[in-house]
Amino acid sequence: MNSSYPPRVDYDNDENSIRSSSVHPDPYEQFKLWYSEEEIEGVEEPNRISLATCTPDGIPSLRMVLLKIFGPEGFFFFTDYQSRKAQELSLNPKAAILSHWPRLQRQVRIEGSVKKASRVVSENYFDHRPRLSQAAASVSSQSSEMLDREEFESRLKGLATGSSALSCPESWGGYCLVPELFEFWQGQRGRVHDRVIYEKTPDGWILKELQP
Ligand SMILES: Cc1cc2nc3c(=O)[nH]c(=O)nc-3n(C[C@H](O)[C@H](O)[C@H](O)COP(=O)(O)O)c2cc1C
Repeated sequence: MNSSYPPRVDYDNDENSIRSSSVHPDPYEQFKLWYSEEEIEGVEEPNRISLATCTPDGIPSLRMVLLKIFGPEGFFFFTDYQSRKAQELSLNPKAAILSHWPRLQRQVRIEGSVKKASRVVSENYFDHRPRLSQAAASVSSQSSEMLDREEFESRLKGLATGSSALSCPESWGGYCLVPELFEFWQGQRGRVHDRVIYEKTPDGWILKELQP
């Protein structure tokens, strides 16, 4: 018997209880509401999400990224188009993202298909990045093997300290996940959690409640 399980934390969110009848009928608005409740409290990077992709053979992979834009058009993150995630997305555009907001004991899972953002969106975002991040995006071939760290560092330093403007590499930019399903999860006492899903249909979003 294992007597040293991690300490047990019970959730207690009666006042934040959700039902299919009480959430916003538009899942984007519901996401915006929960996101803003994290932001108002000054929570650091409420835009951290995990992103799951999958190979055509069904092998999943998972990593964190930062959600940079969201709205009815979709959920945008930025990355290297040669990375492992990008290669997986080019073969299988289905993906899932997850926000976990422990302060209010919430998670939101979103599933859908991913497409590349327009060049304008990617370039606009790239232009707002600090110089070192721009240089890193230009030098790094993300997820390829690091064969010569010294040479890599020297190219990075060259670009980071140069004075001419850096433009967004063709091999770098945004992806937009267009949702087909949302699940809003609110932790509750005794693990009797609240779960509301939104499924996309040709007639709009259908809401359902799930058992904990
Ligand atoms: C909190 C956090 C945020 C991150 N944000 C990004 C991001 O926005 N874009 C990105 O390409 N990698 C980001 N990363 C790094 C990724 O987790 C990952 O290491 C990288 O994208 C390579 O993933 P891949 O090999 O699966 O393509 C972040 C990591 C952490 C821990």
